Amino acid sequence: MTNEQLEKLLSELSLEEKLGQLTQVEANFYLEHTGSDVTGPEANIGLAPDDLKLMGSVLNCVGADNCIQLQKAFMENHPHHIPLLIMQDVIHGYRTQYPVPLGLACSFNDDLTEACARMAAKEASLEGVHVTFGPMVDISRDARWGRCMESCGEDVTLTKRMGSAMVRGFVHDGGENTVASCVKHFCAYGAPEAGRDYNNVELSERTLRQTYLPGYKAALDAGARWIMPSFNSIGHLPMTANGYILKDILRDEWGFDGAIISDYNAYREIQWHGAAESMKDVAEITRHNGVDMEMMSATTFLHSKELLEEGRITMEEINTSVMRILQEKNRLGLFENPYRFADKTAAESYILSTSCRELAQQAAEESAVLLKNEGALLPFGKDMKKLALIGPFAAEKGIKGAWACAGRDEETVSVYEGIKTMLPDVEILVDAGCSYNLLNDTPIDVLTANAERAAALAKEADAVLLCIGEYQDYSGEGNSRCEIRLPLQQRILAEKVLKENPNAAVLLFGGRPQDITDIEPMARAILYMWQPGTMGGAAAARLVFGEVAPSGKLSMTFPRSVGQEPIYYAHQTTGRPVADPNIPGAPFPYTSRYLDMPTSPLYAFGYGLSYTTFEYSPVTLDTDTLTVDGTITASATVKNTGNVTAKESVQFYVRDLIGTVARPVKELKDFKKITLAPGEEIVVSFTITEEDLRYWGKDLTYGSDAGTFHAFIGPDSNTQNYAEFKLVK
Ligand code: NOJ
Repeated sequence: MTNEQLEKLLSELSLEEKLGQLTQVEANFYLEHTGSDVTGPEANIGLAPDDLKLMGSVLNCVGADNCIQLQKAFMENHPHHIPLLIMQDVIHGYRTQYPVPLGLACSFNDDLTEACARMAAKEASLEGVHVTFGPMVDISRDARWGRCMESCGEDVTLTKRMGSAMVRGFVHDGGENTVASCVKHFCAYGAPEAGRDYNNVELSERTLRQTYLPGYKAALDAGARWIMPSFNSIGHLPMTANGYILKDILRDEWGFDGAIISDYNAYREIQWHGAAESMKDVAEITRHNGVDMEMMSATTFLHSKELLEEGRITMEEINTSVMRILQEKNRLGLFENPYRFADKTAAESYILSTSCRELAQQAAEESAVLLKNEGALLPFGKDMKKLALIGPFAAEKGIKGAWACAGRDEETVSVYEGIKTMLPDVEILVDAGCSYNLLNDTPIDVLTANAERAAALAKEADAVLLCIGEYQDYSGEGNSRCEIRLPLQQRILAEKVLKENPNAAVLLFGGRPQDITDIEPMARAILYMWQPGTMGGAAAARLVFGEVAPSGKLSMTFPRSVGQEPIYYAHQTTGRPVADPNIPGAPFPYTSRYLDMPTSPLYAFGYGLSYTTFEYSPVTLDTDTLTVDGTITASATVKNTGNVTAKESVQFYVRDLIGTVARPVKELKDFKKITLAPGEEIVVSFTITEEDLRYWGKDLTYGSDAGTFHAFIGPDSNTQNYAEFKLVK
């Protein structure tokens, strides 16, 4: 449709039709609808059956046939035959699952991330989805927060790169088999107090702008046309009612002209936050803040008429939002083809096809992080006779990850299945040894007996894989944890099993960094698989038996203890830095230390081992003086000094030594993933411009300082391999 046609359509709509466009309900409102009786799910949000004829969008309509039928019936009944927009959470795959985003970010591989999102978009669009609620780009620095699993981790640059790659993969220039993207949760949802989901967020405006906003901006720049405000309040103001951020920053500063959709029931929650007295007030506040669509409440629909009559909102405000929704529907071509790419036959032949599975497997392989490998215990040789697979995740199929859309456990390859398929002649002894439950109510003597039984199996095998960690439903929305240690029964199991066999390696699963300080000293090797998706077990088999070398690097710091949270590498020094962050109770008192624990993490951001070793040369610069219009190229030679071909994510950090405000000890600015054969070396270069050095300084001005900087190139955020340069102005 042309803009004129859209304007004409808008002018013909009744007020109720307009308000309907601003409302999204669950698809099951239609599927379960029983007729004239107002007892269906719509009654819970105050809608009558006839109101359902006017809605603008549905979420959670699964399956091509369902989407087509729903759309057809809906359009026939709508007075102006305006199609529904079908939205869905496609977080780490639609049906074929790739690793949870926090894991995938460890791949440090933009192309792979984009390809995964592209595959998910294709599966989803063939099943009738028009828009995905993704990517989620909330910076996550607190492992207690279960939703860190949906994010790209703690770092701004990594989040910008991975988030943009996902958007590109989803929208793919609006071409065939694409979906539109709704970036979320705007903003700073990843910084709730005490790591508790939905909790209040307190941030300085500098931190908000420096750390939390860039990921959303990058996703919008990459082509996301939708954005979802978060559940949390910032500075005591619930985000859905936060005019400063939604209007002043998002619309006015950034010029965002796409659509804002609230999170699920977030309109009502403004009242529960205590920031509005009535739902009518909520409808007024959100209208003034330019939120266009309301998810799963009907405040706008029910109260706008009265608000208009009382002069509290204007028709112009309503028209602006309706026009945005119509424009986004039009952008997707829904007026010409309301079913878009929905096609049951095509979906059946593409979904879970070999190409989807191969990609998911590569993603799982590149996301896994080798945390420890004493004496090169891994990879195991394939010539063994007997392997003991111990632990609750040994044969468990629930490793695909939470928030898995149409993904199914039964379609997931378990570790047992992955290894059995690869090595059919190896005898595999399996014993879960304990449950994965978080809270344990089994008596200790029973746990111990079970662990001893599993340890006996471990003893008689040539090698052991101890598959432990966090179950998929223990991270994700609402799943905050106060303790991030392994549950008691798993600790008992690890203690018994790991000492029985010197060839015992740990295969760790989870959706967040965990506190593994108890078991780490006992384990010779630890490979973190995250929640690896549909092909998790197949990827684990290839990694463990050396068909591919691990190359993942941590997207989020692993603490030594939950008491260190939030912990992240890009912190400031403080005025009292500890002399040695690796020593508990560092000798000099009155420093920023813990008496009982080092301040350093167990594993830092960017860390991850390989089956080979890489040597980094000192950093060289083509010039050590950067001018405002100039560039500096920083380079290091990276050499594979081991025996196997492997990938390495080369990381480039900068430190600004003196700023107008305190600056982080290091900030990731760029990274490159390279592949090196044994003995091969490559010069890896990064370019620095003045723009890369800008930050939100004193008086919230955005700019750079003339002065000294360090440019680091290394394998992780602990690197001290740097060269010094000056910015002159
Ligand atoms: C609530 C979640 O916070 C959000 O991420 C999701 O997109 C919506 N529900 C819709 O499922």
